[in-house]
Amino acid sequence: MISSSLLLVSGHVTVNACPPADRAALLAFKAALHEPYLGIFNSWTGYDCCNKWYGVTCDPSTKRVADINLRGESEDPIFQKARRTGYMTGSISPAICKLERLSTVIIADWKGISGVIPPCISSLPFLRILDLIGNQISGEIPYDIGKLSHLMVLNVADNKIIGRIPRSLADLSSLKHLDLRNNMISGTIPRNIGKLRMLSRALLSGNRIYGPIPETISYIYRLSDLDLSLNRLSGPIPESLGKMSVLGTLNLDANMISGKLPATLLSSRISILNLSRNAIEGSIPDFFGPRSYFMMLDLSYNKLKGAIPKSISSASFIGHLDLSHNHLCGKIPAASWLEHLEASSFTYNDCLCGKPLKAC
Ligand SMILES: *[C@@H]1O[C@H](CO)[C@@H](O)[C@H](O)[C@H]1NC(C)=O
Repeated sequence: MISSSLLLVSGHVTVNACPPADRAALLAFKAALHEPYLGIFNSWTGYDCCNKWYGVTCDPSTKRVADINLRGESEDPIFQKARRTGYMTGSISPAICKLERLSTVIIADWKGISGVIPPCISSLPFLRILDLIGNQISGEIPYDIGKLSHLMVLNVADNKIIGRIPRSLADLSSLKHLDLRNNMISGTIPRNIGKLRMLSRALLSGNRIYGPIPETISYIYRLSDLDLSLNRLSGPIPESLGKMSVLGTLNLDANMISGKLPATLLSSRISILNLSRNAIEGSIPDFFGPRSYFMMLDLSYNKLKGAIPKSISSASFIGHLDLSHNHLCGKIPAASWLEHLEASSFTYNDCLCGKPLKAC
């Protein structure tokens, strides 16, 4: 009787503890990093890595490590006590890939972590979130990233990533949120990107991406936010972008986009549209209507000519409008929502006139 209950107790202990292989992988991961100010790794001692190791969570049933959640900017008491944000150097050890049940990897905003994304990360079959924003990570996105069939969030923004967007990225069939902003990514946008049917946010701003905007982007029917600004994209804006059912934000500013302004963009679901600092030519299509509702419409610094179309008066709302630095001419149409606009919305054109500029 006694021996069997002892067995039960000892069995219980082994079931609850973290497997030694997971613990060893975490310790190797920790050994490649250096965090001098907060002591977040001080809790990473003892045998049970599932118990109070800062930022580590295990699956309650398998007891395997499921989440690594280390954020350098957080409300956690450890940060309040130190009265500072986090800073960490070192690199992400490939030992992390031995944690084969990982579902979340968040190593964000530590400012100083360098090295590459371990290529073996693509072989973590259960990975759902990979968030490495705000470090100094260099090298390329693993070419076979597309193997991560459960990945919903890929965020490597604000790092030093180089190379192209891998073609296999389009195989991430669960991907909802893609954030590659502010890196040094070059190459073109893969044409197969339209395969990402779950994608709702695609943020690629602040890279060196060139070539055309693939029309296939408009196949991503859940896409609500597309930011391709501050790149080197050229060619025309696909008209189909204005026919997307939930696209609300479209930022294409500061590229080398040419061609005409597609009429579809002016009475679409898009309410934030920034096309500033491109080479868009021709006139502004006379295609505004009651469906046109813009919190922000910035067409400044292009080559638009002709008059501001009369139909703009029928737009239901335009909060912030910037048509400055073009070649527009003629009388500014009147509209109720135009009352709050200032002259700066219209300055630096060829010959615009009327309120809020000088009378014609
Ligand atoms: C639109 O983009 C330009 C260029 O990147 C930027 O300077 C401007 O502030 C943006 N407009 C608004 C209203 O945010």
